[in-house]
Amino acid sequence: MDMDKVHVQSQTIKEKSFSEREKAHMKASDIFEQRAIPHFNNLNKSLDVGKSNGYTGFALAKHFKKVVSIDSNPGSLKIGENKALEKNIKNIQFLLMDAHRLKFPDKLFDVVTCRAAIHHFDNPDEVLSEIHRVLKTDGFFVIMDFCFSETTRNLIAPLAMVRENDFKKYYTFHEWCDLIENNGFLIDTIYTYTLPRVVQEWAAAGPEEIQNRIVDAFLGLDEKVHKELRLQKKGNKDIITYRIVEIIARKKG
Ligand SMILES: C[S@@+](CC[C@H](N)C(=O)[O-])C[C@H]1O[C@@H](n2cnc3c(N)ncnc32)[C@H](O)[C@@H]1O
Repeated sequence: MDMDKVHVQSQTIKEKSFSEREKAHMKASDIFEQRAIPHFNNLNKSLDVGKSNGYTGFALAKHFKKVVSIDSNPGSLKIGENKALEKNIKNIQFLLMDAHRLKFPDKLFDVVTCRAAIHHFDNPDEVLSEIHRVLKTDGFFVIMDFCFSETTRNLIAPLAMVRENDFKKYYTFHEWCDLIENNGFLIDTIYTYTLPRVVQEWAAAGPEEIQNRIVDAFLGLDEKVHKELRLQKKGNKDIITYRIVEIIARKKG
């Protein structure tokens, strides 16, 4: 990739209450919205892939005429539908769908987003090829996801796998760029963020009986990992700061 042609901007998120999961998601969606929306030239239809609780979809719904949010987990769709009802958001639709087999015609969407979901996919190349297919020519694809050095991701991936059984892989900065460029997109802008996270809360997403073991294993990792993740103790909490990358790319004509 020719880095001279890519705009890279960094921002550190300073948020005292960031340890609360809900607020962290909302903050990330706000940042996503502030950063990405000004890039788009057509705000008609957007698709959010791997929606989970739907924060990205709700951020997009403020700007687009119509937002479609898909997820392969029926439970997460129900949460989204209830939230949309609660917030009286009418231009968002939730569909049960596998990202590897999008049931949409070619060139339907102006923008496709995928936040913190690719690291769960069995075959990211297949998903990106589907996203490419359903995007209009010159449409935008935006990824927002974690980004680690190769050493760190190799050492924390086994812990992520026991924490979430559908976790597949963490990516390095260059792997993100390659994944996008090798699937027919041109990278336009890259934003990087740093995001604090309490290790104990991260582990709490895993099965209850192994949460303490995940924390212990994390704290026992190589010093290089702790240095990269700026591990620090605050009271009885261990806090890491990880890097998030937001890549705004355009479908090649
Ligand atoms: C960590 S959550 C994503 C968070 C969300 N994008 C947000 O902005 O808050 C990952 C989501 O990807 C979904 N997912 C995993 N594999 C999938 C697949 N093959 N197709 C569609 N969704 C998938 C999971 O069900 C989960 O809801």
